[in-house]
Amino acid sequence: VLSDNVEEILNDDRISIIVEATNDTKSAYQYIKRALTLNKSVVTANKALVSAHFEELSMLAERHHVSFLYEASVGGGIPILKALKDEVILNDISSITGILNGTCNYILSNMFNNNTTYNQALNQAQELGFAEFDPHDDVSGKDTQRKLRILATLGLSTSIKEKDIILHGIEQISTLDIQHIQQLQSTCKLIGEVVKHSDHYYAVVMPCIVCNSSYFSTVNMAYNAVCIRGSHIENLTFYGAGAGASPTADAMMKDVLDVAKGGTLTKSPLKNNPLLNRNETWKDFFYLRINSNNPKLVALIKVLADQVLQQEKQLIILSKKIEYNKVRAILSKYDIKSEEYFIARIK
Ligand SMILES: NC(=O)c1ccc[n+]([C@@H]2O[C@H](COP(=O)([O-])OP(=O)(O)OC[C@H]3O[C@@H](n4cnc5c(N)ncnc54)[C@H](OP(=O)(O)O)[C@@H]3O)[C@@H](O)[C@H]2O)c1
Repeated sequence: VLSDNVEEILNDDRISIIVEATNDTKSAYQYIKRALTLNKSVVTANKALVSAHFEELSMLAERHHVSFLYEASVGGGIPILKALKDEVILNDISSITGILNGTCNYILSNMFNNNTTYNQALNQAQELGFAEFDPHDDVSGKDTQRKLRILATLGLSTSIKEKDIILHGIEQISTLDIQHIQQLQSTCKLIGEVVKHSDHYYAVVMPCIVCNSSYFSTVNMAYNAVCIRGSHIENLTFYGAGAGASPTADAMMKDVLDVAKGGTLTKSPLKNNPLLNRNETWKDFFYLRINSNNPKLVALIKVLADQVLQQEKQLIILSKKIEYNKVRAILSKYDIKSEEYFIARIK
């Protein structure tokens, strides 16, 4: 039975599970709210929607004794969310780290392994259907930020929203950066990470320089990987197809089967364990390339860096372990716009 009328679906008492696979956040929010209120379970792949209304829709489902499931919204075909919900019951999760966006990983793999430029790699990703016609949400890191928001909220049992996550994408990476990173026997990945310490956490989406012998360096092309660290499980790693029609549909149909099988899935997995966001004190080692040779900026930045290279009009810095906020403060003091620098963590 086919219908293009959502009212027909919502008002049909024989339908108890609704599968939502649109890319429309606004309408889908209204449809899903109505469906849950009408005691219908909902399965969705729509990560933008889950990220925007996670707490509200989870509570609404619980109130109406129905399920709200969204396995496909993170990691495509990788069964990460169900596993994470299970691990949280017995484990204190101290970190979640992942390559969560296939488009960015495809672009970076191609730039590093096949010497393509950023634009060539992006065009290829679009031709192969990995990247959207408008790739902004992917390359800006926004898509990874949404997925980390979902993982972190489940894993740390506290509400961590998009605004609680530091965000830098891959748009500014250049062939000069690739050359310098390769000299460090390393590659670059867009990584989302949340780390918990007793009563606080920090959460970041940023390009990461990872050495060629590290696990994340082996995750290439459109594949995703997520590593969870827990008090009993130590490190648990998931790897697989992060997107694509079949893996995504498989994840959605597994949710449908779980709803059909029943069980305890009508209880919201979200908890409210109070944790402070400490992004403002977060420290790391940074690689920073700035399109400027302002001598005052060079003098200031030398204080923060172990190595400063000046190449034509570009400044390349390998920092000491410093607060991210100090880097931001310098960039803002010299009015360096987002398109004038590339920043990465050195893992
Ligand atoms: N593709 C993947 O690998 C993947 C992986 C994980 C999650 N997801 C998520 O899955 C969802 C769908 O992704 P996709 O790649 O299949 O996107 P897509 O190819 O752009 O398809 C979206 C579909 O939704 C329809 N649609 C949009 N607004 C609608 C509305 N208000 N009512 C009814 N139908 C509507 C569109 O119809 P028209 O063409 O007529 O506009 C289109 O057929 C997105 O939320 C995406 O984030 C996708």
